[in-house]
Amino acid sequence: MSGSQIIRIFDTTLRDGEQSPGNSMNIEEKLRIAKQLLKLNVDVIEAGFPIASEGDFQAVKRVAQSIKGPEIAGLCRSSDKDIDRAWEALQYAEEKGRIHTFIATSDIHMKYKLQMEPSKVLAAAVKAVKRARGYTKNVEFSCEDAVRTRLDFLAEVVAAVIDAGATTVNIPDTVGYTIPAEYFNIISYLKQNVKNIDQAVISVHCHNDLGLAVANSIAAVQAGAGQVECTINGIGERAGNCSLEEFVMILKTRRDILPFHTNVVTEQLTPASRLLSTVTGSLVQSNKAIVGVNAFAHEAGIHQHGVMMEKSTYEIMTPESVGLTANALVLGKHSGRHAFKKRLTELGYDLSDEDLNKAFDKFKTLADLKKEVFDEDLDALVAEEVMRPAEKYKLSHITVTCGSFAVATATVQLEIDGEPVRTAELGDGPVDATFKAIKKLTKSNAKLLQYNVGAITGGTDAQGEATVRMSEGTNTVTGRGASTDIIEASARAYINALNRIHYKQERFADTV
Ligand code: KIV
Ligand code: ZN
Repeated sequence: MSGSQIIRIFDTTLRDGEQSPGNSMNIEEKLRIAKQLLKLNVDVIEAGFPIASEGDFQAVKRVAQSIKGPEIAGLCRSSDKDIDRAWEALQYAEEKGRIHTFIATSDIHMKYKLQMEPSKVLAAAVKAVKRARGYTKNVEFSCEDAVRTRLDFLAEVVAAVIDAGATTVNIPDTVGYTIPAEYFNIISYLKQNVKNIDQAVISVHCHNDLGLAVANSIAAVQAGAGQVECTINGIGERAGNCSLEEFVMILKTRRDILPFHTNVVTEQLTPASRLLSTVTGSLVQSNKAIVGVNAFAHEAGIHQHGVMMEKSTYEIMTPESVGLTANALVLGKHSGRHAFKKRLTELGYDLSDEDLNKAFDKFKTLADLKKEVFDEDLDALVAEEVMRPAEKYKLSHITVTCGSFAVATATVQLEIDGEPVRTAELGDGPVDATFKAIKKLTKSNAKLLQYNVGAITGGTDAQGEATVRMSEGTNTVTGRGASTDIIEASARAYINALNRIHYKQERFADTV
């Protein structure tokens, strides 16, 4: 593209995104997302924080071993132990491995969190970059809380880490505090006042606490940043990170005034968003830009009329350009394996033969219960049948009796680590009785924070989808379940959440 500058996309869905409540993923799930990031053609995949836990270490290692194309980054603090551990996982990516090391540079963080003098922080940053350079030429350094850092000190740190060998320097808005004009000025200041700034790529990493992460990232590239850190669906700490799909589509849609482009295959954006929701159980809000279910729905008659006459009247980008294919009836009970596989592939699911067989069997059962099987049913089916390997708790059977004269009673049979267990409980209603029975069998202390149930598609034969938000200790998770029976869907969601809590407890038992 002549005259247009490339902006590198650094995806941190598997690190900053994954560390937020309700979005945790196991190693297999991280690998599935990494494969989709490969299809999206992002430039860098930040796969985790290797020293944080054995699970994080293994996830970064597996991604580094199996995803070939993008650079693979691992986060580490500015300490020898962290950096060594990060490279232990990243070495499998060879020259595509990137060590991403950071330390906070704002007065507030240095004083209260690190309890270090600025000169010590500067020395630690330089030492960390030099150690990382001992392993690889590809080193990114982040000045945590850069936006609240004194500009002269920020410039000093940036110059020093570039001298020490950092090839990318990240200027994060860690707490989502800045606004576009201010961020533009910070990046411009560094461009003008750091003598060796041209020897490194300036990266930006924006959090969305004030809803400005995407706008701030756009301002930063206008000021000269060459890399943007973002996540699918904008997931991430607190209010999230810069949303990858929004940032990428802004550059594509406003080429007329923004002379920048990315390598992202935008037709893979919708599949990426759906896959992430399927994997984590966290859905995006319906009016979310680019990937919300209403993003391309024209409700008002006057809009519908306009779009029918000429699409560009109300559409600034086409649904096809973000990979949204017609959400029509796709499959029914006479559909064959080939059509089933083709549709799953179009939706972004690459299943092994074994997983495909499992999913196809379930599809046949579902198609007997429902006349029409929609894309949303397929998402739920893949989530239920494929994305939940080797879980501690599994639902075997559930029977519920209830009615206006009956006390609701649930009889639930589970497998716990492969062993069958069964109990019955009474409750205020069928869901209460079911949850009580599961709680008794699993001896769980987890608290139910939120419970929602809805229909996946229209019609009385639609599948019900339940989501629960639960927490135990510091672990908060989202569980999701689907079935043509809403009580069974609720039980599945509850059990899914308990499995996620169990995974998190095991994973972080060894956390530093
Ligand atoms: O928000 C932040 O500052 C971070 C850094 C570790 C890059 O996530
Ligand atoms: Zn962050």
